[in-house]
Amino acid sequence: MSTSHSTAASAALSAATNAARSPTSATPEQPLIRLRGVTKVYGEGALAFQALKGVNLDIARSDFVAIMGPSGSGKSTAMNMLGCLDRPTTGEYLFLGEHVESLTRDQRALLRRRYFGFVFQGFNLLARTSAQENVELPLLYRGESASKRHGAAARALDAVGLKGWEHHTPAELSGGQQQRVAIARAIVTQPAVLLADEPTGNLDTQRSHEIMELLWRLNRDQGITVLMVTHEADMAAYARRIVRFVDGVVDSDAPNPHPVEVS
Ligand SMILES: Nc1ncnc2c1ncn2[C@@H]1O[C@H](COP(=O)(O)OP(=O)(O)OP(=O)(O)O)[C@@H](O)[C@H]1O
Ligand SMILES: [Mg+2]
Repeated sequence: MSTSHSTAASAALSAATNAARSPTSATPEQPLIRLRGVTKVYGEGALAFQALKGVNLDIARSDFVAIMGPSGSGKSTAMNMLGCLDRPTTGEYLFLGEHVESLTRDQRALLRRRYFGFVFQGFNLLARTSAQENVELPLLYRGESASKRHGAAARALDAVGLKGWEHHTPAELSGGQQQRVAIARAIVTQPAVLLADEPTGNLDTQRSHEIMELLWRLNRDQGITVLMVTHEADMAAYARRIVRFVDGVVDSDAPNPHPVEVS
């Protein structure tokens, strides 16, 4: 990453950091995330495929959104866009007023590391590496000292109910525990937004509800904005809002009238 990019991105994004963490410093009408007319075309020429066909979406701070819709409707494509892993072919993505679509790859990486945590269906943990070390990884990329990494990872593992399991490797943990490690890894950087693409897709019903209760608590207690893709109505029921994708557009977007209340 060049110094000028990193400096420019830091300056542009530090305002966004403060606003993301302190709701009072941002203008009340400015959403955390705003997508306008976002399209995504994969491939070129005769093989080109339009996965997103003009997505409009506003996400407020501390919202909890379930994204649903048929297979191939563009949910993961939209999540990659939201998480700054990819950028729109056309359209606008505003993160606290910053135009993400015009950032360089390096600036997007910076934005991603500062504000986003990711959880995937397949856990994506490093094998033969302890839970503690897996959780420390994002802090290692940030250049944090060993003592800071240890402390933050221990707190994140405690927050997901895995105190005492720090030295176990993924193979020594159940699927539900592995997903908890992945969530600890996602929250260890204190992200503004947690993006979870089918986080319960590989888990049984009981474990799935436990993971949903954990996401629900992180949203309520830490104010983390949670955007979660799921095919299961029982899991979407924990969200406050349900957005449904059909054929590359948002087909419906409505509050969940009766969100599950976790005690
Ligand atoms: N890298 C890629 N190259 C080409 N086409 C792609 C690529 N990624 C996704 N697509 C296509 O874009 C469309 C949307 O894919 P996407 O993964 O966003 O769907 P989804 O809603 O997440 O589906 P699922 O519920 O099965 O995960 C699909 O038709 C898919 O084949
Ligand atoms: Mg998908």
